[in-house]
Amino acid sequence: MELSINTLNSKEEFLLNHHGVDVFLKRDDQIHPEISGNKWRKLKYHLEKFYLGDYRQILSFGGAFSNHLAALAALGKLAEIPTYAMVRGEEAGDSPTLEYCSAQGMEWEAISRKDYSLKENPEFLEALQELRPGLYILPEGGKGVPALKGCAEIIDELEGTYDCIALAAGTGTTAAGLLAHPKAPKIRVYAALKGGSFLKPAIAQYLQEYQSEYGLAPIPRDLLIRKLDLVTDYHFGGFAKINQELVQFMNETYRKYQLKLDPVYTSKLLFGLLKDIEAGHFKAGSRVLVLHSGGLQGIAGMNRRLAKKSEELIAYD
Ligand SMILES: Cc1ncc(COP(=O)(O)O)c(C=O)c1O
Repeated sequence: MELSINTLNSKEEFLLNHHGVDVFLKRDDQIHPEISGNKWRKLKYHLEKFYLGDYRQILSFGGAFSNHLAALAALGKLAEIPTYAMVRGEEAGDSPTLEYCSAQGMEWEAISRKDYSLKENPEFLEALQELRPGLYILPEGGKGVPALKGCAEIIDELEGTYDCIALAAGTGTTAAGLLAHPKAPKIRVYAALKGGSFLKPAIAQYLQEYQSEYGLAPIPRDLLIRKLDLVTDYHFGGFAKINQELVQFMNETYRKYQLKLDPVYTSKLLFGLLKDIEAGHFKAGSRVLVLHSGGLQGIAGMNRRLAKKSEELIAYD
C-alpha cells in the first residue's frame, strides 16, 4: 500500500501578540497522529525512492527515544514495509519509544556507541546490504537530499507572508530544506543541542548536495548568511537535557494556549524565541512563523526520566 499524507490540514494559527510581534504557528505536529512534524516531510521522498527502487526493507539509525524511529516504525506498519533499526546502546531497555516501535512491528537491535559510529561507513553499510538484500538505508534522523525536498514543500503551503520562520534544529536538515526554497523568508534556527555552531556549515553543506543533485545554482554565500540566523543559547545543557524551568514553561504554555510542545526541540525553540522577542531581537510589527515540528511521542520517555528523579512532570491532560 503506497502511503500518502495530506499535509494541508497543518494550519497556521495565531498564537499571541508578544511585545508587538505577531507569532504564528505552523502546526506540522497535526499532520498525522503518528508520522507528524518534520518526520513526514523528511520521509516522503525517501519513501518515493524506496518505491522506485528494488527495495524490500528500510533500515535506519537512532537513539532510544528517537522521534525518527517512532515515525519510521509507524510508516512501516501503515505502508506494510518491514522496518529495522540500529539503536545507540544505552537506555534501550527502558524506552517507551522502542516499546512503541516493537508494537508497530519494527525489528530493532541495540548496538554499542562504537558500532553505531559506523552508521555512515560505506563498507559497514554494504555488508549490511549483503546480509539483507533489498535494504533501503535511511540515514540517521531521515536526513539526506530527499529530506530537504520534502521540507522545502512547507514554504509552498504557507498562507500568509512572514518576516521570519523560527524552527528547532538537530542536524539542520529541516532548516536547509526551508532555505532550499527560493521563496523562503529569513530562517531563525534554535539549536536543540550544545555547541550548535556546527549547524551553519552543516546547513550550507546539505544545501550544496541538494543543489548539485538537482542541477540548481548555488545560493550565494552572502545571501545565505543574510537569510540564516543561528541561535545556540537555549540548549538547556545539551541534547535531550531539560530542567524544571523548561518543564514549567511547557506546562504553562499548555495551560494558557492548549499547545503541546515536545521536551527536546520545540519547547526550547518557543522558550528561546519568546525571550528573544522580549529582548528586542525583532522589529515591532514583525510576523514570525514558528514551525511546530512535532516530537510529542518523546514526552512519555522524558516523563519516565523525570519521575525517576522525583521532578515535576510534563502534564498535558
Ligand atoms: C520534533 C523534532 N523537531 C526538530 C527536529 C530537528 O530536525 P533537524 O534534524 O532536521 O534539524 C527533530 C529531529 O529530526 C525532531 O524530531
